[in-house]
Amino acid sequence: MDKNINLETIDEVRAEALRELQDISSLSKLDEWRVSYLGRNGSLTNILRKLGSVPLENRRQIGATANQAKLLLEEKLDHHRNLLANAKTSSESEDDVLDVTLPGWPLSNGNLHPSTKMLREITKAFSSMGFQVQEGPEIEWDRYNFDLLNIPSDHPARDMWDTLWLDYTDKHGNTPMLLRTHTSPMQARIMENAKPPIRVLVPGKCYRYEATDSTHEWQFFQVEGLAIGEGITFAELKGTLYEFVRCIFGDERKIRFRCDFFPFVEPGVDMSISNFVDPETGKRPIDYNQDWIEILGAGMVHPNVLKNIGYDPDVYSGFAFGMGVERIAMLKYGIDDIRLFYSNDLRFLEQF
Ligand code: PHE
Repeated sequence: MDKNINLETIDEVRAEALRELQDISSLSKLDEWRVSYLGRNGSLTNILRKLGSVPLENRRQIGATANQAKLLLEEKLDHHRNLLANAKTSSESEDDVLDVTLPGWPLSNGNLHPSTKMLREITKAFSSMGFQVQEGPEIEWDRYNFDLLNIPSDHPARDMWDTLWLDYTDKHGNTPMLLRTHTSPMQARIMENAKPPIRVLVPGKCYRYEATDSTHEWQFFQVEGLAIGEGITFAELKGTLYEFVRCIFGDERKIRFRCDFFPFVEPGVDMSISNFVDPETGKRPIDYNQDWIEILGAGMVHPNVLKNIGYDPDVYSGFAFGMGVERIAMLKYGIDDIRLFYSNDLRFLEQF
């Protein structure tokens, strides 16, 4: 700074400061301005500091002018700071007002649950073969879930289905209501209310009193199939199921039938299909050591069941099958844990 402090220097500094101040529109710039004029090393501060070197005769006047300039700049600083602060709050409150020109939030469309999708695919495959679709109650009587299906209360086969019983006691002291353990009770309900020929498909939720693990859930979907008529044979059952597997899995997968026992069919079988091989890795994501995975139980409707409903087994015959929907989805898409279906994890659900 000029050693010779005079009135002009002070005027210049003041004028320059006021000019700069006009263009300042942010608090941070305002602070820079303050530092450069009024700060410890600011131009006006330096003038004041050097007043001592001004010849005595001028000192009074120059000192007074410099102090006035300082007061003026401080006053302008406060004023400008208030201006900026007010401008800020008013623009903030404008932000609260709805700005219709802003881009909107994208609406995320939901998609169907993989169980529902699989269920619909299965239903479609069977409707193309002439099956009608009918649903039934999830809370069922013991009579339909077991008795009419040739599983009386003392039958050891009841152990096959771990049952969730309902807290309801009839006048004989029995607890005859339960959450259906399979969709098979609908076999009896349909036969009671229809006349052959019957070709019905029953999709629905089932429940079992079971510990869960990667292949067992206590709630799951089943699809039951029932065909009753005159002269229906096991060949028709096999043909129907072959066609079903072809519709869902394509021509690639193989099918295997083995003898199995279900009290309401005779003969009874279970059907397995060849395991899923991931086309990209050539590996099996589930059950690595298993070549075959069981997907359903089936068989020819037991004569006792026909009799229980009042059908003459010498005239009518038929087949029935029941399959687990989630298991089929697991096999189709290579899902390794059935619990994913009911854990509501969007990272899983959004893949379908
Ligand atoms: N209801 C049987 C089960 O849940 C499956 C089945 C249905 C078997 C129809 C035979 C005939 O295990």
